Amino acid sequence: MPPILEAHDLTKRFALGAETVEALRGISLAVQPGEFVALMGPSGSGKSTLLQLLGGLDRPTTGSVVFEGRDISHLSDDEATRLRRERTGFVFQAFNLIPLLSVRENIALPFTIAGQDAGRGEAHDRIREVIALVELEGKERYRPDQLSQGEQQRVAVARALVTRPSVLLADEPTGNLDYTTGGELLDALWKSSETAAQTIVLVTHDARAAAYADRILVIGDGQITDEISLGRRADHSAAPLIARLAQIGL
Ligand SMILES: Nc1ncnc2c1ncn2[C@@H]1O[C@H](COP(=O)(O)OP(=O)(O)OP(=O)(O)O)[C@@H](O)[C@H]1O
Ligand SMILES: [Mg+2]
Repeated sequence: MPPILEAHDLTKRFALGAETVEALRGISLAVQPGEFVALMGPSGSGKSTLLQLLGGLDRPTTGSVVFEGRDISHLSDDEATRLRRERTGFVFQAFNLIPLLSVRENIALPFTIAGQDAGRGEAHDRIREVIALVELEGKERYRPDQLSQGEQQRVAVARALVTRPSVLLADEPTGNLDYTTGGELLDALWKSSETAAQTIVLVTHDARAAAYADRILVIGDGQITDEISLGRRADHSAAPLIARLAQIGL
């Protein structure tokens, strides 16, 4: 199968006053449909910058991003916005939920924004499906402040998945969660990967989170420095990965 997402020799430079920061220095990668890929690397290595380019949130300085066979690096702002809304799902470290809306209303937001009635038909079914996926049945009417941090992040995941995006991009989604709630979130991501063949690119510092992935790309100073293929497996114990990471000094 052709890759669902490709990066070709991406560079990204930021101007900071008189100085230039080279955040990415020539990154090429390919993600297969249904693949679960983790991006790991030290703080400041360029992981978030790369994820933003992959999702069309920002444009590369040079190089290109090809999404479902189409070069998205030079889309107009309108086209990029449409692509993000319709084809990609984002989850960030901060949950970004709307405090005054219920769980269900937060998850329904992509439909509401598009002017669709989320109360029936396909939208209604999908909302129910993702609520079941993240195991929040019975909490549809709660507001975010009535939920635990882990539950709030699961709402964010459900909202990202409700549009059935081709690719789910997640930047440190477990960064604000404790061990148990982080594990529940990772299980929800894994379930979407297994049951819906959801393609996932996950940025994480956490070897336990990365151990859910099929493949890990290690980023150092704006380049891919190592690649670790773990393959698809139901056992997500982090020990083998931690041993591999120790060998490469991470
Ligand atoms: N908007 C920006 N303006 C200027 N420099 C930026 C900008 N965004 C990122 N950078 C720089 O690019 C480099 C990579 O940043 P990035 O946020 O991608 O790192 P990261 O790997 O995600 O780090 P962390 O693990 O701390 O989140 C850093 O040196 C950062 O300061
Ligand atoms: Mg980051």
